[in-house]
Amino acid sequence: MNIVNSQSLLNYNTFKIDVIAELFKSVKSEKDVLELLQNERVIKKNKFILGGGSNILFTKNINGLVIHNQIKGVNIIKETKKNVEIEIGGGEIWDDLVAWTTKNQYYGIENLSLIPGSVGAAPIQNIGAYGCELQDCFTKLEAIHLNTRKKNIFTKSDCNFGYRNSIFKNELKNQFIITKVYLNLKKEKKLNLSYNGLIDKIKKKKVSIEDVRNAIIEIRKSKLPNPNQLGNAGSFFKNPIISEAHLKQIKREHPEIPYFKKDVIKVPAAWLIEKLKWKGHQEKRCGVYNNHALIIINHNQATGKEITDLAKNIKQDVYKNFNIILEEEISII
Ligand code: FAD
Ligand code: EPU
Repeated sequence: MNIVNSQSLLNYNTFKIDVIAELFKSVKSEKDVLELLQNERVIKKNKFILGGGSNILFTKNINGLVIHNQIKGVNIIKETKKNVEIEIGGGEIWDDLVAWTTKNQYYGIENLSLIPGSVGAAPIQNIGAYGCELQDCFTKLEAIHLNTRKKNIFTKSDCNFGYRNSIFKNELKNQFIITKVYLNLKKEKKLNLSYNGLIDKIKKKKVSIEDVRNAIIEIRKSKLPNPNQLGNAGSFFKNPIISEAHLKQIKREHPEIPYFKKDVIKVPAAWLIEKLKWKGHQEKRCGVYNNHALIIINHNQATGKEITDLAKNIKQDVYKNFNIILEEEISII
């Protein structure tokens, strides 16, 4: 088995951090995973699963084995007049899947167009955008335990999905490799145009699934930096949830504060950060994106430590001024 020693991860993470993995192996099937986990060289090592590296910040070399998920395959396993159930290999690229479902007019994930990364990572933080979350069409997943090598099935309720959250970010952190994800999509037209500004962007009376995907791609390209040009991992922090009383208190000084109220009150972290004048701020080699205050940018070979130092300063400032503790959205390793 060809396990690579001392592999640079520079081209395996969108933040473009240059760290070394002690051992590195790509896996293309469940069989590869099982064989790898039994290999003598890796049995006692720490193990870390890597997909597209678009929600990770590396701050040090990885002591142990990095397993790069490349398990492919998209299969329809059940089809009725109204629905289609799809089984997808965890190493498929998420946006390739969305392009395929859009082309086939399978409704449900088009609002999640252009999110970078792999299908196997999508349940980890229950990816979401433009009024949709993975959990809206997720049915189950298959995962292999990294120590026992047992295959487990997790249903939607087992996953404890929340806003940018799941059991895999908590109790089961770094314990499984997700090998397959199952989604249930609709064959009858059902679009979610609830997100502010989406319908204005499309400017059509009869809206198609392709129109939604194209509009979302356009909005995203106008707001978010392309990781191939500027190192980043999307939103660095989650949007904080605050109490009604807390919002009232902030409103006294800042009546213009935007917020979303559904079951809870969420305020945009980007607004808090911009208000404190961090937007466009630049340190030596990293900074805050000048077009979106929630995105930290690696301008020129910054280390993970330089980026976490900047994030720490932003966090402290937000806490001091708004009494809000921002929580990181990305995995910091
Ligand atoms: P990685 O970064 O490789 O891994 C992330 C975490 O998941 C790590 O802890 C890793 O160990 C674990 N993991 C990965 N694969 C597996 C697996 N198969 N089994 C077990 N654990 C695994 N996210 C959103 O929710 N909404 C957005 O709108 C959004 N926009 C983004 C825009 C940009 C420009 C960027 C760079 C990122 C954005 N993200 C967004 C974040 C990111 O794309 C998602 O979190 C994505 O699901 C990460 O996938 P990945 O394969 O790159 O995961
Ligand atoms: N805003 C500012 N300054 C900025 C940018 C935004 O004040 O520089 C304020 C504006 O009031 C704006 C509001 O923040 O209306 C919300 O901004 P945006 O629509 O860009 O969304 P977001 O809350 O910053 C969230 C997700 C994104 C997701 C978009 C679209 C989180 C942490 N982030 O961003 O997800 O794509 O909504 O649904 O929930 C990611 O997770 O990596 C990610 C990019």
